[in-house]
This record gives sequence, C-alpha cells and structure tokens, in this order.
Amino acid sequence: MKDRESDLVPRHLGLVSRRDFLKFCTIAAAGMGLPLGMGAKIAEAIASLKRPPVIWLSGQECTGCTEALLRSTHPTIEQLILDLISLDYHETLSTPSGHLAEEARAKSIAENKGKFILVTDGSIPLKDGGIYCQVAGRPVVDILRETAPQAMAVIAIGSCASWGGIPSASPNPTGAVSTAEALGGKFTVINIPGCPPNPYNFLSTVLYLLTFKKLPELDDKARPKFAYRRLIHEGCERRAHFDAGRFALEFGDDGHRRGWCLYKLGCKGPETYNNCPEQLFGDVGPRSWPVGTGCPCFGCSEKGVGFTKPIPEQASLAHFTPAGLPLEDEGGKVRVGGGQLRLTSPTAFAPIEAAQGHGVTTAAVGLAAGLAGLALGAGAVTAMKLGKEKSDSGAETKKD
Ligand code: SF4
Ligand code: SF4
Ligand code: F3S
Repeated sequence: MKDRESDLVPRHLGLVSRRDFLKFCTIAAAGMGLPLGMGAKIAEAIASLKRPPVIWLSGQECTGCTEALLRSTHPTIEQLILDLISLDYHETLSTPSGHLAEEARAKSIAENKGKFILVTDGSIPLKDGGIYCQVAGRPVVDILRETAPQAMAVIAIGSCASWGGIPSASPNPTGAVSTAEALGGKFTVINIPGCPPNPYNFLSTVLYLLTFKKLPELDDKARPKFAYRRLIHEGCERRAHFDAGRFALEFGDDGHRRGWCLYKLGCKGPETYNNCPEQLFGDVGPRSWPVGTGCPCFGCSEKGVGFTKPIPEQASLAHFTPAGLPLEDEGGKVRVGGGQLRLTSPTAFAPIEAAQGHGVTTAAVGLAAGLAGLALGAGAVTAMKLGKEKSDSGAETKKD
C-alpha cells in the first residue's frame, strides 16, 4: 500500500527524505502564518515542479549571507539547493568559473525568461559608474539592470542588498545602495534583511513564491510580513525583566548573568522588526539568537538602526505593549485582549528611568510575560513542537 507521504511528494527529491521535506514545509507554512494543512500542499507543489532556475548575483558582500544559508539544517539548504532548485549561477557555489560561469548565466537567462528567480546579495555601488564592484570586467549594476527585467521575481537577501548594509555606512565611499534603489524603483524587490538574515525567512519566501505564484504580503519596506511584522522586543524572552525595570548594566554583571534585559547595554530590539526570538539560528535549540546568548540586538536588519546608530546608544521605544492584544483604557485600568483580566498598562510607566527592579509588581511582570508568550504566535510554537516527538514512554524527545 502506498504511504501518504509518497502520494504527496514525488521521489525525485534525491538526498532530502520525503519525511524531512514534509516536516520542513509544514514548519515553513506555520512560520508564514498559513494553516498547518498548507505544509503538505507546499511540498506537493514544489516537488512536482521542474527545478526552478535561480540566478544569484553578488555585489559588495562578505559571503556571510551565503554561509548562513549553507549552515542550516532540516533539511540542509545545501540539499535543498542541489535537489529542489537549479542554482544556475552563483559566484561562490557554482562549479564553473570565469567565462564558463558567465556563459552558464547567459544561457540560463535566455532559456528561462520570466521563469527564473533572481537573488541578490551585497550592496550595489553607484559612484563613478559603479566601478567599485565589477564581475567579469563589468560593473555589477549593469548586470543587475539587464537581468532583473527578465526574472520572475527579485529577492534581495541580507541587509546589504535590502538597504545598503555595512558598505553604505557613513561616509559610504562607493555610493552603495540597495538592489531596489539600483533598479530605480522599477521592480518590486522582496527584501530579506539581516546581517546575515535567517535562512528560513529566505527559504520560506522562495517556497511561497513557487507554490502560490505571487509575492507574500509585504510591509512598507518590502519585507515579508510573516517574518518582519513584529518588533524583536515583543517576542523577547527578557521582556518581563524590561517591564520590571531589571537591566544588565555591564557585561558580566549580576543582572547580565541572571538574564535581565539588555536595553541599557544598547539593545535595539525595541526598534527592530524581525522574528529572531521565534525563528532562532543554527538549529541548536533554545536561546540560540543574539539576545538569548547575552548579546544586545544591534538592529542588523533595520535600516537606520544597524550600522547607523552607535552600538551602546539606547534604542528609541516605539512600542511597549505585546503585539496583537488590543488594550481598552477604562479610567486608568486596562482590559487586555477583550478579556476580564485587569492590570496597569505597561505603557503607563517608563521602566528605563525607574530604580533598578522597581518597574511594576511581580504579578504584573508575570502577566506581561504570559501575554508576550501568547503573542509569540502559533507558528513558532508549532515549529518547536514539530521538532519533538513522543517516545513510547510518553516523554517528549528531541528529533532531528
Ligand atoms: Fe555580509 Fe551582512 Fe552583507 Fe550579508 S548582509 S553580505 S552577512 S555584510
Ligand atoms: Fe529583549 Fe532587548 Fe527588549 Fe530587553 S530591550 S526586552 S533584551 S529586546
Ligand atoms: Fe540581527 Fe538583532 Fe536579530 S542583531 S540577528 S536583528 S537579534
């Protein structure tokens, strides 16, 4: 009897097991806020496609974005690249080099007009005719401008490609700009900022494009909303300490070792939109993201914050309340999310000015932490649960 997985996903996945691929697609669907059943649909759609061609153009970059992509697992991106998409041109990963690589790029573009995905990493220098970044003797801006109009979609991966990143930091000696700016705003470029970005945000975007044949919903900076809709501060595991006015004041001090809030060490979580606290990095378990390891977020993904604001500078506080929970003010008391529970609104105090540990009551801290947990969203919880399975004894065990 045919099993359900083999009904859904053809066997041409090569090194990626059907089980792993289905699991990956289910996690991706949850991360994109889609119903769980969509995971199987995505897997079916992707696996039945002819491997879609991808042309990857690099500008002024450090290869960190590519490295991040290659360091992920379940399944490894390496397997996904080799088995699911046809990576026809990538200066670092392509086997051919020199004129052979350039011929492969030209051939793929000519044969796949309107069907290939163009991925860019690195910023594009415009100063002096773009001479500060050349590929095969030509300014990369010229190659970008002749390639983009022929692509099905353009994805800018990393902060350099999304908004200029490190090369555009003052005084920006090469006139570095984003992919979208270099294209003069003529195309919708999907931005996946981060330095480097989370590879799953990139892969989920590719899966969405290929499955639904349209762009995912984007915010006003052309970032997929499924990944960049919330401030890091809203999902941070140290948020309860922020609300309680408990801050690490120096690296290695008692507060730092106890896991207190890093705001006073320059954490830019309150003004940076990204899903780092939920998506995590490197598949090595809980707290595997900058703030989780004790390092303040420096806003690597946020234009105007990362590589712009000094690292020790305190963030501007755009929002205080957990996302997605409407607050109704009732004469100084606040009802959260339409429920009966009442507490003093976290917006009613400024814990950064309060004496250490004198922000709010312990009960309110617990409540705020609970609400922040609720706001984490089903996607992250599902993703975490999918990595676990019940053993025969009923105990939960971590699976690959
Ligand atoms: Fe490197 Fe960061 Fe630029 Fe990616 S975004 S190329 S990791 S500097
Ligand atoms: Fe977390 Fe930083 Fe916000 Fe503190 S300031 S709660 S460490 S994101
Ligand atoms: Fe970057 Fe901050 Fe996330 S530094 S990786 S946006 S926690």
